[in-house]
Amino acid sequence: MAASPLIERLKELKAEVASLPAPADERALEGLRVHYLGKKGSVSLLSQEMGSVPKEQKPEAGKLLQEVRASLETLLAETGARLKRDKIQKEIEQEFFDITLPSGEPEFGARHPIAMVMDEVVDIFTAMGFQVEEGPEVETDYYNFEGLNFPAEHPARDMQDTFHLTNIERLLRTHTSPVQVRAMQKYGPPLSVIAPGKVYRCDADITHSPMFHQIEGFTIDTKITMGDLKGTLQAFLRRLYGPKTAIRLRPSFFPFVEPGAEVDVSCVICGGKGCRVCKHTGWLEILGAGMIHPNVMRTSNIDPERWSGFAFGMGIERIAMLKYGVDDIRLFFENDLRFLRQF
Ligand code: DAH
Repeated sequence: MAASPLIERLKELKAEVASLPAPADERALEGLRVHYLGKKGSVSLLSQEMGSVPKEQKPEAGKLLQEVRASLETLLAETGARLKRDKIQKEIEQEFFDITLPSGEPEFGARHPIAMVMDEVVDIFTAMGFQVEEGPEVETDYYNFEGLNFPAEHPARDMQDTFHLTNIERLLRTHTSPVQVRAMQKYGPPLSVIAPGKVYRCDADITHSPMFHQIEGFTIDTKITMGDLKGTLQAFLRRLYGPKTAIRLRPSFFPFVEPGAEVDVSCVICGGKGCRVCKHTGWLEILGAGMIHPNVMRTSNIDPERWSGFAFGMGIERIAMLKYGVDDIRLFFENDLRFLRQF
């Protein structure tokens, strides 16, 4: 029995497919797929004619059709994979970037306003002969409280104001005053020290931050009086806020000084006439100060009969807020460049 014409055509198709060149791009690949395997493609058309093949020749025809289909699918799959690889390779080559090329203009930073005010205050005092000292931020109760004549039940020792470290007998210093005691013990009198640094308190709102900066200062010599304190602070505040600045001292209490005072400056905003910032008093509270308490001297083996001294302490954020007219302390710690660029 002669082979059916369909078998002849399948054999021709098989030979044709075997000699097909690999398609060169996606379009050729798709064209090939449609030409053979599409709805009206030759393979599809031939498979529709399978019904006309005599029964005993069906297995041979079916096998041929399978082979043609399989070799077409292999060709399409392999070419598809190769084209994809080529495309990725090309992209990698085109997207190569040269890490040795110069970058854009670098942006320059600037001093933080708090650092600028700290430097300015320290400069004014070093020009008057004060030496700069620093102490640890992780302190002992002894330097932060006891050596500064705080009684055992003083409210500042309360957990609510002080960060106590767990597991070790230490706290985060709540003020820079401990540097007084450290410097007195280290050098002995006569001595003039200015001590800038970070301090910590459990407190946070628009005028309080849990970390802020203070500057402590003190002088010890044989004949230091309250007059020296006032003159020194007046000279300092006039350098800082201008020659017309007036100051006044009001009696106040701090355990480490006797007498103690609160120091006010004439309002830096309205010049003393009265405004919102000074709450219409014409004055701004700016420093705590006083004559060093005899007990503090004794702690450091300094004879209070022979030596006397004054001490003062101030918050830098407050000074900076008044100097630059900033009304929320948190702005100093958010590091928003739009804020920082203004200084
Ligand atoms: N240590 C005080 C505080 O943190 C500030 C202060 C007040 C310091 C009076 C002094 C002083 O040296 O004499 O509030």
